[in-house]
Amino acid sequence: MNAIEVKKGVYWVGAIDWDIRNFHGYTTNRGATYNAFLIIDEKITLIDTVKNTFADELIARISSIIDPAKIDYIVSNHVEMDHSGALPEVMKVAPNATIVTSSPQGMKGLMAHYGEFNYMAVKPNETLNIGSRTLRFVPTPMVHWPDNMVTYCPEEKILFSNDSFGQHYASNGRFDDEEPFDIIMEEAQKYYANIVLPYSKQAATAVNIVKDLDVEIIATSHGVIWRSHVKDIFEAYEKWTSLQSGENALIVYDSMWHSTEKIAKAIEKGFASKGVTTEVYDLKETHISDIMTRIIDAKYLAVGSPTLNNGYLPTVAGFLCYLKGLSAKNHLKAFAFGSYGWGGQSIGMVEQDLIACGYDICLDKIRIQYIPSKEQLDKITEDVANLVDSE
Ligand code: FEO
Repeated sequence: MNAIEVKKGVYWVGAIDWDIRNFHGYTTNRGATYNAFLIIDEKITLIDTVKNTFADELIARISSIIDPAKIDYIVSNHVEMDHSGALPEVMKVAPNATIVTSSPQGMKGLMAHYGEFNYMAVKPNETLNIGSRTLRFVPTPMVHWPDNMVTYCPEEKILFSNDSFGQHYASNGRFDDEEPFDIIMEEAQKYYANIVLPYSKQAATAVNIVKDLDVEIIATSHGVIWRSHVKDIFEAYEKWTSLQSGENALIVYDSMWHSTEKIAKAIEKGFASKGVTTEVYDLKETHISDIMTRIIDAKYLAVGSPTLNNGYLPTVAGFLCYLKGLSAKNHLKAFAFGSYGWGGQSIGMVEQDLIACGYDICLDKIRIQYIPSKEQLDKITEDVANLVDSE
């Protein structure tokens, strides 16, 4: 369990979670890391810890550099337990450490989780001298909890960004230039869409603050450390936080006897006929967190469900519930569709949920009883093509 040098005297001492496949409902198909960093200076400082089940891994990596008992400060940028969970174990081997946390939310959260320790609550932009280096604590509330802050070290030009700029991605490479760029950006987008998106306004404020700092390295708490693509991830965050509409059409549905599926294909044909890049997802086959990732690049969203027991299918209900929770009130153009036998309530319910997400309904809901005829499908294709033309 060796530490990895990030810069002279600054080490990655985190943990790699190769096996995790679900992070509170978000599928982590490529695993995850919990990054923690050790700074060797007059005051030995640990930035964040790891999930509690990886405490031994963290302590072993710290021990490969110094005796953990010498740790003076532990900066807790974020209370969530993937970063603070190992605090009790670390405090056993570093009993003289002071835990630095944001005031008042970090203090409140850590006390609730772990009880009394020696805490130091810091105010926004407060600095801490640790010898030849300074640490500045910049609040980033709601990215991703109220307590969040990032820690900036101007002498090293390192931003310890915690959840911001993260990706759930387990790998041998610790740095962005050691792993495939397209994959880490895809994972960064998935992370943004599934964790940060509802707090895009707060994230935009945070990005504006940190982009004015002189940053050479973003030492995020999840995934690879950014050193060669700092500009790329800043630019991506500027785009994502702006909630600009994408260009694609996203069609998301489930079907019982293929009628709603036929409508989905007719809608796809309409968008494709006008050159709109279209993605179609059957909720039986694709996880909602992967579909959520694609929302960022969408301009149009069509959601379909047949009617089952006077409501929508549970898969569609789950997707809409997740979508509403993560909705950033950006202005997607959306509409509902589906087949039914007699009641037909599902389509109106889908439409109401899309309205609740803050989306603009751009097409009357499409309701087809039993099996859609060729004429009905052609009319749907034509209506969708006209919708694109009318933009
Ligand atoms: Fe990576 Fe909000 O915890």
